[in-house]
Amino acid sequence: MISQAARQREKRFSRARDAVKPACAGHRSSQSFLLYLIQACRDFHCITGRLEYRLLKILRGITMKNVILIGAQGHMGQAAMTGLKKHNVITASRSGTGCDHTVDITSKASIKALFEKVGPFDAVVNTVGYCEYANFSEMTDEQWDTTIQSKMVGQINLVNVGLNYINDGGSFTLISGILNVKPIPVAIADATTSGAIDTFVQCVAHELPRQVRINVVNPTVLEEAWDVYGEMMPGFQPVPGALVGKAFERSVDGFITGKVIFVDA
Ligand SMILES: NC(=O)c1ccc[n+]([C@@H]2O[C@H](COP(=O)([O-])OP(=O)(O)OC[C@H]3O[C@@H](n4cnc5c(N)ncnc54)[C@H](OP(=O)(O)O)[C@@H]3O)[C@@H](O)[C@H]2O)c1
Repeated sequence: MISQAARQREKRFSRARDAVKPACAGHRSSQSFLLYLIQACRDFHCITGRLEYRLLKILRGITMKNVILIGAQGHMGQAAMTGLKKHNVITASRSGTGCDHTVDITSKASIKALFEKVGPFDAVVNTVGYCEYANFSEMTDEQWDTTIQSKMVGQINLVNVGLNYINDGGSFTLISGILNVKPIPVAIADATTSGAIDTFVQCVAHELPRQVRINVVNPTVLEEAWDVYGEMMPGFQPVPGALVGKAFERSVDGFITGKVIFVDA
């Protein structure tokens, strides 16, 4: 026995379904179609709270991305993590401590092995870039080489190798740092390689295929790392990791490309 209320709801639902049908063809993605369907059901008052919750859950599943976060346990990795909560985050670092995988970004073979192991993914967020600190006159060739191989070449190689594996429409987000625009003593290698990465991102964005995007987050010092860097950065105002996390979120979930996303106080 169908109740009067159930019959009326069914009627309203078939009106909503008819309204939605012609729009199906116009909706390129399942996300936009699902959003349209939810809105139509709301307009025709034929959606229960439970059904809306279920549809929104499906929608969330569709928008969830597989994101590889490199350097996840570091200060910057933890900051990035706060902006990636809605995604399936696959973590990696050199030691692998507390992460799903190990990777050494200074080795192309290691980067390739990581992407092979992970399988299909939509985004790479890199928060690794080891830097040596010394006055210019005291920087050794080895210190320059170590910094360049990690913060510059390592990040470029992540993109170079990653392009063979990343899904269409995917994104890369790299890390630089404010010292290339606000120089301080002893940070010449950090500043120089940060500047190189900012330039790389702005230029290579024009050459990426398959709607793949790339951005770089250029933050000032984190509140959470003030005890490490604070002494060498007098007059700088640290920012909370959660604010820097928003910059990573904008890069991964937005449509911008070729941008240097500054986070400064
Ligand atoms: N912290 C800040 O306030 C701040 C501000 C602006 C910019 N940045 C930039 O952000 C980057 C990260 O800084 P951080 O403070 O987060 O450093 P951190 O706390 O020392 O963390 C470094 C992370 O990188 C990983 N790592 C180091 N070398 C690696 C390699 N060759 N391959 C793969 N993973 C490697 C480490 O993994 P393991 O522990 O497993 O070795 C660790 O997870 C640096 O380039 C820095 O200049 C930092």
